[in-house]
Amino acid sequence: MNNDKTSASQLSELTQDIDRILITEIEIKNRIIEIGRQISNDYHGKNPLLIGVLKGVLFFLADLLRCITIPVEVDFLAVSSYSTEARNKGVVRLVKDLDIPIQDRHILFVEDVVDTGLTLNYLLKNLKMRNPTSIQVCTLFDKSKHRLVSLPLSYVGFELPDRFVVGYGLDFREKYRNLPFVGLLKPSVLAREMDGE
Ligand code: IMP
Repeated sequence: MNNDKTSASQLSELTQDIDRILITEIEIKNRIIEIGRQISNDYHGKNPLLIGVLKGVLFFLADLLRCITIPVEVDFLAVSSYSTEARNKGVVRLVKDLDIPIQDRHILFVEDVVDTGLTLNYLLKNLKMRNPTSIQVCTLFDKSKHRLVSLPLSYVGFELPDRFVVGYGLDFREKYRNLPFVGLLKPSVLAREMDGE
């Protein structure tokens, strides 16, 4: 059938590794439009600074910014995890700090996914020491079942199951970030990647 041909030809090298799509490209797009509208209302007249953590937030932040209709500024942090043990204690290493001072600024911290919350908790503590006027968090994906520290999330795009997902910025060993949707990897792919270690 023609339909089969079309879908087969659309299967890229990356999508062949996906077991199931959890959130489609259009669902993501529509939700980001809603969040952008909310942020534009809530931060009207406040010139907020949006801070993203590289690299996973790249796609979300770029799309969100274009759905915000008020003046905003943007800056980035980059972190790298220490050992698994250090990570479990919520310690991350800042490999790129902010370029813009945040004292007396309204900060909107933008995340791709909040899982245990340990990374975010560490970064929020660090930023709070710099005396911003306010800090709120916006995350596209929330895995609240896995949370180890309680964190107030002001804007949440989607609740995710407690599963490892890829796409729309989320990677598995630096791969799959450029999928336009969010999905689960095939178990055979995970096994293959593990074997390749
Ligand atoms: P947390 O410190 O456990 O909240 O971890 C947050 C970071 O773990 C995110 O910024 C992602 O880089 C990564 N992460 C958590 N869950 C996933 C997932 O399902 N896929 C890809 N990366 C994830």
